[in-house]
Amino acid sequence: EKGGFASFMEKEIHDQPAAVADTLLGRSDVDGNLILDELRIDEDELKSIRKIIVLACGTSSYAGMVAKYAIERWCRIPVEVELSHEFRYRDPIIDANTLIVSISQSGETMDTLMAVRYAKEQGARTVSICNTNGSTIPRESDAVLYTHAGPEIAVASTKAFLAQITAAYLLGLYLAQLTKKLYREEIKDILSDLADIPAKVQQILDNADSIKELARSMSEASSVLFLGRNVGYPVALEGALKLKELAYIHAEGFAAGELKHGPIALIDEGQPVFVVVPSPMDRHSLHAKVVSNIQEVRARGAKTIVVAEAGDETVRDYAERVFYVPETQPMLMPLLTTVPLQIFACELATAKGYDVDQPRNLAKSVTVE
Ligand code: F6R
Repeated sequence: EKGGFASFMEKEIHDQPAAVADTLLGRSDVDGNLILDELRIDEDELKSIRKIIVLACGTSSYAGMVAKYAIERWCRIPVEVELSHEFRYRDPIIDANTLIVSISQSGETMDTLMAVRYAKEQGARTVSICNTNGSTIPRESDAVLYTHAGPEIAVASTKAFLAQITAAYLLGLYLAQLTKKLYREEIKDILSDLADIPAKVQQILDNADSIKELARSMSEASSVLFLGRNVGYPVALEGALKLKELAYIHAEGFAAGELKHGPIALIDEGQPVFVVVPSPMDRHSLHAKVVSNIQEVRARGAKTIVVAEAGDETVRDYAERVFYVPETQPMLMPLLTTVPLQIFACELATAKGYDVDQPRNLAKSVTVE
C-alpha cells in the first residue's frame, strides 16, 4: 500500500510528479487553449468578475496565496486570500461580481464549507478546487476544478498542495484566456513550462540524500525559521507548518521583507534559517534583496540553509547549505521549492521517531468548527 516507502507521507511526496501531471491532464489542447469543462459557470458571468476571494485553511490557504500572485499577475483581477474561519465573521463585502474560490483537499473542512455557504447566501459565484470527488464543498459550489492528486492518506498535506497550486495556475490561465489579459502565446509558454514541472519534481526527489542528511543532523533543533518572498513566501509558511505538524518543532515562516520589522531580533548564534530564494529572473529584482537578507541573518550567527534555483551561484558564499531546484519561470517556482522542505520535515520527524502519517492532535479532515 505504501509502495515500498516507510510512510504514506513519503509515498505521497513521491507521488507528486504524477499529482501535478494528472492535474494538468486534458485541461488544454495543443494550441494552448484551456478547456476547463467542469467550470460550469457561464463565460459571461466569469468575464464580469471584479474580485476574487480565495477561502481555505492551513496548507490549502498557502496554495491560495500562490493563486493570488498568479491570478493578479495574469488576469489583473484583485484577489484576496482569507482563512475561511476569519472570513465568515467579519461582514465581508461580496456581490454577484465576486468569485469565491475555495481550496480544500478533503472537501469536508467545516470552516471552509460554512464560509462558502455564507458567500453563496450573499450572492457570490463559487468555484471549488478540491481533491475529493463528490465531497460536500464541491457539491455545494457552482463549479469545481478537481485536483487529481489521488487519495491523500497522511494527515499532513503534500501532493494535494502541489496539485492545488497547479489547479490555481490553470484557473488563472483560464480567466486570462477568457478576459484576453494574456496573449495566446504567453498562455502556451506557461502551459509548456507547467508540463515540464513533473520531471523537475522527480529530479528533486532523485537527489534528496543531502537534504535528508541535513534533516537527520538537525533533530535536536528547537526552533527553525523560514524566509521567503513573493511566491516564495507561502512556501516558507508551508515549510514551517510541515515542521510544526510533523516534528513538533517550533517553526515560523516570514516574508523576508518583514525581517527588519521584528523577526530579525530572534536571530542569534546557531539559529537555523531556511531561505527560499527567488529566481534571479524575477522581474522585480527580489533576488538581490533576499540575498542581502541571507547576509543579514548570517552576520548575526544564523545557520543559513538556502533553497535556490540551479545555476544561482551568488548564494553560495552566504549559505551553510544550498539546495538547488531546477529552473522554471519565477511564478511556477513553488511547485519545486516546496519539495525539499517537505522532505526535510518528513525526514527530521522520522529521525525523531515520530509517526509522520498520524501526527499527534491532528485529524485528516477537520469537520468541526
Ligand atoms: C497541513 C494540513 C492542513 C490542511 C487544512 C485544510 O498539512 O493538512 O493544514 O491543509 O486542514 O484541509 P482541507 O484542504 O482538506 O480543507
